[in-house]
Formats: sequence, C-alpha cells, structure tokens
Amino acid sequence: MTELKKNFAVIGNPIHHSLSPQIHRAFAKETGLHIEYEAILSPLDEFKNTIHQLIAQKLSGANVTLPFKKEAYELASQHSNHAKIAEAANTLEFKDDQIIGHNTDGIGLVRDLEQNLNIYLKSKKILLIGAGGAAEGVIYSMLEKKPSELILTNRTIEKSNVIQNKMDVHAKSFDVNLNVIEIAKCPHQYFDVIINATSAGLNNTELGIDHKVFHEGSLAYEMVYGKETSYIREAKSQGSKTSDGLGMLVEQAAEAFFIWHHIKPQTKSVIESLKAF
Ligand code: ATR
Repeated sequence: MTELKKNFAVIGNPIHHSLSPQIHRAFAKETGLHIEYEAILSPLDEFKNTIHQLIAQKLSGANVTLPFKKEAYELASQHSNHAKIAEAANTLEFKDDQIIGHNTDGIGLVRDLEQNLNIYLKSKKILLIGAGGAAEGVIYSMLEKKPSELILTNRTIEKSNVIQNKMDVHAKSFDVNLNVIEIAKCPHQYFDVIINATSAGLNNTELGIDHKVFHEGSLAYEMVYGKETSYIREAKSQGSKTSDGLGMLVEQAAEAFFIWHHIKPQTKSVIESLKAF
C-alpha cells in the first residue's frame, strides 16, 4: 500500500520570503518522511477562510507567521501552554475537527541560544528589547530557564509595563526577577544576553539604543535574520558576540515538526545550509 502524503503549509502576508518550506522539506528528507509543504498567501482579512479551506483540503497542520499569529490563537479550540500564555499561535494542528494552537517561537529562541550558541540562560541577566508580539511570545520560555533577571525595555515603555504586569505571575513561579527599564538607562547595567525583538532591523531603521549597552563577553541576539542590521554592527564594534535569528527560525520549525510528526529532526546542517544560501 502506498503511504498517503500528508500536507502542510505556512500562511502569512507577505509570504514569498518564507524559508519554512525549505526547512520542513529538509527535515522530511533527513527523517525519511513523505510530506508536502507549501507557502500560502492569505489576504489580510481572509485568514479564517484560508484556514477553513486548507482544512477542507485535508491539510494536517500549518505554520502561521505575520500578521496572523493572534488570529491563529483565537481560531484554535485548544491551546498548548506556551500559546495560551503568549496569546499567539505559530503552529496549528488540524485533528478530528479540532484546531490545536501551539507556539514554538520561545522554544526556538531558547534552543538556539543554549544548544547552538552554548549560552545557558540559568542565572544570567537578560535584556529583552521590544514589546510587540515577537517579544511577548518568547518571555515564558526564557523564564522557564530561570535566568537571574529578565529586564524588558521598549521605545514605548508603557507597553513593557503591560507585559510585565501580565507575566509577573509566571516570573514569580520560576523565582525570576522580571523588571522594566527605560531604554536610555540600559547602558548603566551589564547584561549577559541582549535580545533585539523589535522590528527596527526589518524596516532598516535605527533602534536608538546607546552602543554602551554592549560589552565584551555579552551576546547580542537579533531576531531578524538574513541581513546584518545596525544593531548587530554596533554590538560587533563593541566586541560583543552576536547572532542573527536564523537558528531560532530553524529551531521553532523543528519543534513544529516534532508536534506534527513526533520526530526530532537534526537542525545544525539545515542552519549551516541556509547560512550558505
Ligand atoms: P512584532 O509582532 O514583530 O513584535 P509589533 O507588534 O509591531 O511587531 O512590534 C514592533 C516592536 O518593535 C515594538 O516594540 C516597537 O516599538 P514601539 O512599541 O515603541 O512601537 C519596536 N520598534 C519598531 N521599530 C523601532 C525603532 N525604529 N526603534 C525602536 N523600536 C522599534
């Protein structure tokens, strides 16, 4: 009997730049699974219809990218703990008429930091810049690793305060100090890890953080990938280690692959081949 190919997709707007099809096809090749994985552009006001059409076409699951992660969360009838806390989903499973929402972004970031870059977060002091969905989506996964302190900052500081209020109960449960500081005050402290979760690099705009925030021995992580942003250039100029977000992209995809197929794919060779690409 021939094996029925399972179908998957990534949905976003825009979507032409997405590396997810390439990553999932590479995982499938390596693990010997036969799957289809396509990129699908959803009109901005048609996300729900797009998902229901895909379910009617017997898709088994979907990744969801900007700007639909909140809508994906709202559409799901069941949620993983990470999706529930982030109130956003980047991975959907379609199972027995149910839509199950997961969020693998935070796990992807933490695995890239710890397994690929050998930066273990336990007892470290972390600065997270940004207060949009990208920042909020990774906080819980970082808290789980018990850093000594996680400090939030953002151009619009009120948004950091809102997130802190919401996440403080989780921070307390992991015995982590979760604090907010103004962006101008960041250079007065030393951080082991500084994560840029803003969209400044995507839009080629300046972040407006003083380069004195970067130190030798700290890691400056940029969630944007595929280009050297001014954040990365400034961090390098101060002697910090740097990384873009390509590893996070591949690791969040690996966790989605695991959710769908119950197999953990190798990620290092995929990261290397995408870097060369
Ligand atoms: P995402 O879902 O990708 O996080 P978002 O919700 O639009 O996108 O959030 C973008 C984040 O990048 C915000 O934290 C934004 O800061 P504000 O809240 O002050 O708008 C931040 N951001 C974008 N461009 C920036 C820039 N040039 N300098 C500083 N912060 C910037």
